[in-house]
Amino acid sequence: MAEPRRNIASVDPVWDQILTEAQKAVRDEPLMGGFVHACILHHKSIEKALSYRIAAKLASNEMSMMVVREMVQEAYASDPSLIKAARADLVAIYERDPACHRLLQPILYFKGYQAVQAYRVGHHLWMKGQYDLAYFVQMRVSEIFGVDIHPAAKIGKGIMIDHAHSVVIGETAVVGDNVSMLHSVTLGGTGKEEQDRHPKIGDGVLIGAGAKVLGNITVGHCSRIAAGSVVLEAVPPCKTVAGIPARVVGEAGCDQPSILMDHIIGPQGD
Ligand SMILES: CC(C)(COP(=O)(O)OP(=O)(O)OC[C@H]1O[C@@H](n2cnc3c(N)ncnc32)[C@H](O)[C@@H]1OP(=O)(O)O)[C@@H](O)C(=O)NCCC(=O)NCCS
Repeated sequence: MAEPRRNIASVDPVWDQILTEAQKAVRDEPLMGGFVHACILHHKSIEKALSYRIAAKLASNEMSMMVVREMVQEAYASDPSLIKAARADLVAIYERDPACHRLLQPILYFKGYQAVQAYRVGHHLWMKGQYDLAYFVQMRVSEIFGVDIHPAAKIGKGIMIDHAHSVVIGETAVVGDNVSMLHSVTLGGTGKEEQDRHPKIGDGVLIGAGAKVLGNITVGHCSRIAAGSVVLEAVPPCKTVAGIPARVVGEAGCDQPSILMDHIIGPQGD
C-alpha cells in the first residue's frame, strides 16, 4: 500500500515563487499567456527557463535559438555554479531594486539580469577555451542589450546592474560579490597600460550611474562611487568617492552600500 503523502517542504522555493507569480500574471493579463508560458510555465526548473530566455534573446539569423539553447544548457549542466550565481543575482535584484516586485520580472524583462546571465555563459565558454563562441555571446549581448562585457572579465555573485544600458566591463576587470552598479558604468583602461589594465572592484561596492573607473586600480570592499565620477586612483574600503577626478568625500555610511542602495552623501557620508 502506498505511503500516505507527507507535507514535504519545497526543495526549490525560488522556482516555486516564480511559478506562482507566473500563474498570477497569466490570470491577471491573459494576453501575456503565450509569452509567460513559453518563458516560465512550460519549464521544469529555473535553469531550463533561463536557457530558453537567453536563447530567445541571443538567437539571430546567424545562430538559431535551438543552437544557443543547447549551448546554454550544456554550460549549466557542466558548471552548476552558473545557476547558483543566477539565483543569487535574481534575489539581489529582488531585494535591492525598488522597481522589482516579483522574482519573475528580471527573468522576463530586466536586461541587466539577462545580460549578466548571458555573460556568465560566455565566461564559461572562454574558460573552456571556446573563444569564438564566447566572442559571439559578447557580440550578441552588446547588440541586444547595449551591455558590453568581455567574456574574460571575472564577475562574482549577487550582482545587480540596474537599467544596464551602456555598461562596459573590460577584459581584465574583476568584480567581487554583491556589487550593484547602474547604467553607463565603465570599468575600463586608461589607454596607457597594457595586459592587466582594468579595475578590480571589491565585494559590496555600489557604483553610481555614469561612473568611469579607469585603470588597474582597486576599489575597496563596500565603498561607494558617486554617479558621474571618474575614478583614476585606488579607493580605500568603506569610503565614498565623488567627482572628476574622484576624491574621497566621506565614509560609505553603512556596512553594505550595494545592498542598501543608499545614494545619499551626507556631511559624514551617511
Ligand atoms: C586622459 C587620459 C588619456 C590620461 O591622460 P594623461 O595626460 O596621461 O593624464 P595623467 O594620467 O597624467 O593625469 C593628468 C591629470 O589629468 C587628470 N585626469 C586624467 N584623466 C582624466 C579624466 N578622464 N578626467 C578628468 N581628469 C583626468 C589626472 O587626475 C591628473 O590630474 P592632476 O595632475 O591634478 O593629478 C586618460 O586618463 C583617459 O581618460 N583615457 C581615456 C580612457 C577611456 O576612455 N577608457 C575607456 C575604455 S573602455
